[in-house]
Amino acid sequence: MEEEKKKKLYNSTIGAPIIPRCAQLWCFLLSIFTISACAQAFDYADALKKSLLYFESQRSGRLPYNQRVTWRDHSGLTDGLEQGVDLVGGYYDAGDHVKFGLPMAFTVTMLSWGIIEYRQQLAVAGELEHATEAIKWGTDYFIKAHTSPNVLWAEVGDGDTDHYCWQRPEDMTTSRQAYKIDENNPGSDLAGETAAAMAAASIVFKKTNPHYSHLLLHHAQQLFEFGDKYRGKYDGSVGVVKSYYASVSGYMDELLWAAVWLYKATDKDEYLKYLIDKAHCFGGIGWAITEFSWDVKYAGLQVIASKLLMEEKHTKHAHILEQYKSKAEYYICSCLNKNNGTNVEHTPGGLLYVRQWNNMQYVSTAAFLLTIYSDILQNSNQKLKCHGGIVGHQEILSFAKSQIDYILGSNPMNMSYLVGYGSNYPTMVHHRGASIVSYRENKGFIGCTQGYDYWYSSPEPNPNVLVGALVGGPDCQDKFVDQRDNYMQTEACTYNTAPLVGVLAKLLQIEDQSLDLNHDSPLLASY
Ligand SMILES: *[C@@H]1O[C@H](CO)[C@@H](O)[C@H](O)[C@H]1NC(C)=O
Ligand SMILES: *[C@@H]1O[C@H](CO)[C@@H](O)[C@H](O)[C@H]1NC(C)=O
Repeated sequence: MEEEKKKKLYNSTIGAPIIPRCAQLWCFLLSIFTISACAQAFDYADALKKSLLYFESQRSGRLPYNQRVTWRDHSGLTDGLEQGVDLVGGYYDAGDHVKFGLPMAFTVTMLSWGIIEYRQQLAVAGELEHATEAIKWGTDYFIKAHTSPNVLWAEVGDGDTDHYCWQRPEDMTTSRQAYKIDENNPGSDLAGETAAAMAAASIVFKKTNPHYSHLLLHHAQQLFEFGDKYRGKYDGSVGVVKSYYASVSGYMDELLWAAVWLYKATDKDEYLKYLIDKAHCFGGIGWAITEFSWDVKYAGLQVIASKLLMEEKHTKHAHILEQYKSKAEYYICSCLNKNNGTNVEHTPGGLLYVRQWNNMQYVSTAAFLLTIYSDILQNSNQKLKCHGGIVGHQEILSFAKSQIDYILGSNPMNMSYLVGYGSNYPTMVHHRGASIVSYRENKGFIGCTQGYDYWYSSPEPNPNVLVGALVGGPDCQDKFVDQRDNYMQTEACTYNTAPLVGVLAKLLQIEDQSLDLNHDSPLLASY
């Protein structure tokens, strides 16, 4: 089963003909020189702001005084009580109320990575504080969930019983049983991803909150040790995740991923050594995979390793880092449809297409890695050699931009898949809280099946707009059906939106630079 999915990952993306996106490329290249060149301009600042609001909708626990999403209220206040541990807080994963540790940690890692790369621009946009708050809501929870060096609480609630009910989080009557991993019930993937998240977040807080940063790093180091020493897949220990977030790619990618983030956070040789020594046997330089997700971290790891290669101090490891880089290139070229052999499919409208259920998660992670890789090339003055041709950093960035523009409305449905952005967006998002009258407006208890009977089956749009949620999105023919029971397309997950934050900040920066050029450059004045 595991091997089969890997094969599928590997083979599922035989190239479909790519529709030339010349118009958009031109638009983008021109936009560097003049802002008026773009017929369809998107408000990236607005999209960025909205994307961060989404994390407030997904909050579990006691909401703070400055909560901006006001249709939500406190919930899950006894999480962990039965097990004698305080697990209040964290994020609901998607349209349900389970707190799944693995995708939650990946969400926090991606938010942190985005802030590490684009901190300055987030600050200029006035969103840095909201972005760090979104991270902290996750890391505060991870600190609680990591109750001793070799114990990490993996999940609160379970998919099966949660899905029996259609209720607001404020009314929840479903099981809040918590599940953990420990020495006898290992979970190296979960421990590894949580270590990666806390290490990445420790970099984010290093200057602004050194005490907190240090605490995160301490947890990250312990979790990595725990995951490395007691090896095993977490879905073998926590059976209830199996039908929801089974770790198909195993734990080796997460252990390498944790090591690289710990190396970035500490600069300690032991983590670099791990990344280098285990590169081969853990598949870091073996797997060329065209998917980057909550489950499969290889491509992200390979992109970071490519960046390490650019630094003088790593030349003694150039041999291994080069191999990581060649796999990163494979991923990037496959998105650009320039591989010989396996490429990521593109829809006729130009959207990357990996699979039917929640395809947008792969689009947003790809846009993120493409953006980062474009920066790497630009900063090192290099170009990417794909089988299908040599590609410059601008072409890669403009392809990433095409994916974001598709998300924001430049698509055959003229639909923004970022909820609340523009005038045409999904109104029937598969989301319990958003689809039921706000608890703040009506505190009358809404039961399990009552929610299904009245609110789930209602033909009316959701009473609450889940602003900033990136839904699963259209099918391979760019078709999207806005129905609440169409969860493959209308459900959103925290890890869909998380990578967008960094990419939107970068696109905003490009726009600002072109504005500056336009106004200040004597060269362009005479152009
Ligand atoms: C890949 O390229 C080589 C030549 O560079 C060619 O012989 C081979 O057939 C190509 N493979 C595919 C799948 O196109
Ligand atoms: C999208 O907008 C274009 C241009 O305004 C229009 O021609 C097309 O019919 C619209 N498509 C849909 C599905 O509304």
